[in-house]
Amino acid sequence: MDNSWYKEMAVYQIWCRSFKDGNGDGIGDLYGVLEKLDYIKSIGVDAIWFSPIYPSPLADYGYDISDYKDIAEEYGGLETFKKVLDEAHKRGLKVIMDLVVNHTSDEHEWFKESKKGKDNPYHDYYFWRKGRGKNGKKPPNNWLSTFEGGAWEYVPELDEYYLHVFAKKQPDLNMDNPKVREEVKSIMKFWLDMGVDGFREDVITFISKKEGLPNGFPLPIATGIEHYKKGPHVHEYLKEFRHDVIDKYDCFVVGESPMSNTKDCLEFTAGDDPELDMMIGFDHMQADCFVTDTIAMPFNLRKLKKAFSRWQKDLYGKSWNALYIENHDHPRIISRYGNEKFRRESGTMLAAACYMQSGTPFIYQGQEIGMLNNHLDDLSKFKDVVTFNNEKIFKKLGVKGQKYLDIANKTSRENARTPVQWDSSEYAGFSTVEPWFGVNPNYKEINVENEEKNPDSILNFYRKLLKVRKENKIIIYGDYKEHFADSDVIYCYERNYEGKRALVVCSFTDETFTFHAPDTFDLTKGKVILCNYENPESRPTVCALRPYEARVYLYE
Ligand code: NOJ
Repeated sequence: MDNSWYKEMAVYQIWCRSFKDGNGDGIGDLYGVLEKLDYIKSIGVDAIWFSPIYPSPLADYGYDISDYKDIAEEYGGLETFKKVLDEAHKRGLKVIMDLVVNHTSDEHEWFKESKKGKDNPYHDYYFWRKGRGKNGKKPPNNWLSTFEGGAWEYVPELDEYYLHVFAKKQPDLNMDNPKVREEVKSIMKFWLDMGVDGFREDVITFISKKEGLPNGFPLPIATGIEHYKKGPHVHEYLKEFRHDVIDKYDCFVVGESPMSNTKDCLEFTAGDDPELDMMIGFDHMQADCFVTDTIAMPFNLRKLKKAFSRWQKDLYGKSWNALYIENHDHPRIISRYGNEKFRRESGTMLAAACYMQSGTPFIYQGQEIGMLNNHLDDLSKFKDVVTFNNEKIFKKLGVKGQKYLDIANKTSRENARTPVQWDSSEYAGFSTVEPWFGVNPNYKEINVENEEKNPDSILNFYRKLLKVRKENKIIIYGDYKEHFADSDVIYCYERNYEGKRALVVCSFTDETFTFHAPDTFDLTKGKVILCNYENPESRPTVCALRPYEARVYLYE
């Protein structure tokens, strides 16, 4: 089935708990989504991706699922979801579900059964192993979890350990068991038959673990990752899902894949028989950190440009890029790569830098109004297992108290999880009662209502940007060539398609910058189709860029 419509769409990501509370209990829900569907549509996106909204004990805010074929009551239940699906479709919005099958919740029925005994038919749904050492007191191998200390949890009743590469309430599924793969296919069919249009597949490249689960190279976290980051059967299993289910529906799949490079991406997404349509890579999210957001470093524009350029060039004509700069796992982008003092300018410039590339845009709730990082004054106000795990790791390194609080405020993914700021009323119009997680105190200034009123707002820039993509196939399909790769101030690239050319120029400084165009471009001959300032003036070879200015010139 030709599903190439995904190339021309833009996706809006909803992390439901913080999107909009529609029933006054302080928790975002699907009633709130129903209220805001017209707003979502008005941004110019074509699809919604729901981060998990299934029943869950919320050890990882929904990425620990206890029932794959239902919707949590606190979000409105399955019937409300069906309504959302229907209303979204009526507005021409597709709906994409998060599929989290590397692990379940420990409160899923399968796990509860598997824990009952070695002879239980569900025992082999998970990785249960005996301990090592004299009395079996040492875990089966030296793997560490990404979220919570060791990757093994001991269960005395069974005298066995189970594997969890994330939190201990997220036991890993044993995908080598054909019954587990049948379950995954059944889950996919359940949602596709209901009418959903695709999946974002969570850490999908982790689903196959190396036989024998050998010890890994010691690291401070995630020891053992080399044995499952692209495990021995991952391609085989993903092909099975693709052939048996995905290929039979008009849908698409985007796979999240930490630590993958473009070569890995092509293995999954290119060729005649791709397993995924796109991959969510992480390279470009590491321009101000080392491997993970928590190990912060100064923002390095060249590192960002290198990552963007690598993915654009390596995938061009072979695969398809997923374009994003925010989601529920990262701090807000203006606070990272932009400048909070130039919120509007840098927020719009970053949007242009990313979304004028070839690929499918993914926009995260609140990004379109330029929401910023939060600043909590006490660690007890944080909620996330990752923040607490990092606290323990930093403590061992002697970093604690205020010092760790500063790190958490800067680097935690909880920055992206504060309630969406709708207006300047109490609780930012998110809810009528105190929300489950504190609203960012800047809501009186930064909110949807204010953004709607201002024609030059970030929100209205996103609308223009998505319209420009729709009206200019060159932005979607054109090739990519970077200019001035060595510049620490300018990100500049050209696009070419069917005889047309486009030049994208983005300034990453808070000062005015004299930009000298590449030799092959006369700036006075190009039409400026997108700019985050009024009156962009140009001379043939030079123009003065204002702080964080972004311009797109089109040559027809
Ligand atoms: C990636 C998800 O995006 C993240 O939020 C989650 O914690 C982990 N996978 C584990 O499911």
